[in-house]
Amino acid sequence: MMHAFERFGLLINDRIVRTPVGIASMAGIVDASYVLDRAGHIGFAFIGGYSIDAPTMAAAKSLSAGGDRKEFLYEDPVQELEAQIALMGKSDVVPGINLRGSSPESFSTLARALGDTVVYEIDAHCRQPEMVAAGCGEHYLNNPDKLAAVVRALKKEGVTVSVKIRAGIASNDRELAVALWKAGADILHIDLMDTGSAKLRQIRNSCPLLIIANNGITSFDRMKEMLSHGADLVSLARQSDERTLAGLDAAITRYADEEGWYNAPKQICRGGDIRGLAFCCMPVKECPLIPTLARIGMPRDDYVRLKLEAVHGTPLEHGSQTCFGSLAFCCKNSSPCMFRAMTLKQHGISPKDYMRMKRELSETIMSRVFE
Ligand SMILES: Cc1cc2nc3c(=O)[nH]c(=O)nc-3n(C[C@H](O)[C@H](O)[C@H](O)COP(=O)(O)O)c2cc1C
Ligand code: SF4
Ligand code: SF4
Repeated sequence: MMHAFERFGLLINDRIVRTPVGIASMAGIVDASYVLDRAGHIGFAFIGGYSIDAPTMAAAKSLSAGGDRKEFLYEDPVQELEAQIALMGKSDVVPGINLRGSSPESFSTLARALGDTVVYEIDAHCRQPEMVAAGCGEHYLNNPDKLAAVVRALKKEGVTVSVKIRAGIASNDRELAVALWKAGADILHIDLMDTGSAKLRQIRNSCPLLIIANNGITSFDRMKEMLSHGADLVSLARQSDERTLAGLDAAITRYADEEGWYNAPKQICRGGDIRGLAFCCMPVKECPLIPTLARIGMPRDDYVRLKLEAVHGTPLEHGSQTCFGSLAFCCKNSSPCMFRAMTLKQHGISPKDYMRMKRELSETIMSRVFE
């Protein structure tokens, strides 16, 4: 059987993620035991949200006293989180903790106490007025400098950082993504509630962070839409029942084994993100490649040289019968082409391996774009 890393190539916090399906936090609901009950179908999970300082713990108490919302309540967040993290250690799920804190110091103090075995997720998502007034959740989306300061404080402690945001709230999601990347964040966990895949593509095109897409991703079609527009993983909260998670896990595993690149982008002329440059031709005609290269500031010659150098010595170097003399410039497998098919056959490259190598090419292109 194919190994999970070979299949998905996903690492979080130096651990292999078994499947790109995971659980997003729900305060008062998603704790370690909730995750363990579903562990066979997920690759990662964010438990919480946990309030970690006096203002946010007071907000949690007040929210839960209101009766409408469940919250995790405790006297000592370190003690509570240590116990939860220890429980999560019983599974191979990559663990994350979703945290509500009102200052960089609250986060860094916690990270010093808990260490680096979990991913620290900053809750910049919660819109409950009590939490926002306490200086966390959506407050951070309206104050991106404060959010970046929290990221920097956590990175100083040497831990892996995810930022949970709601798209369409900050004044400019693209600028926010760049600021978080520059501050050192590792993961962007995006609730795309009112925005959808066009917004996801915009963010994918702005930063090289690992992206988790979230909100209403309860079918394989929806999951594929997110993955083909730039998401590396998807998360579920409200419908994170065993049946839904198992269905998505099985479907994406089968798809990856058949196709070779589980989150392949669409071609750029079909609305794909910039990873789709891996499928683009030579820049010889007026097509969306030209404005895309202009937007990322890559001269046409550099683009050609980059692709040729990236495939040098690999099977993608072949292709004298193809339009541009190299498979580096050939289209996505889903566009039928007898010249590409002939070349692949001649060199013993399976369609799946072709897509796997295009994925490697796209990684080289992305690291150059975001150098
Ligand atoms: C009851 C409930 C509690 C939530 N609590 C949190 C939280 O503490 N922190 C957070 O970042 N998101 C929280 N969320 C948001 C979810 O993680 C998720 O972003 C949202 O529900 C959309 O995803 P879904 O369609 O899969 O449910 C909560 C959602 C619900 C329904
Ligand atoms: S170069 Fe080819 S694949 Fe890329 S945008 Fe143009 S026509 Fe589409
Ligand atoms: S040979 Fe086929 S796959 Fe390659 S660039 Fe030409 S049309 Fe696309």
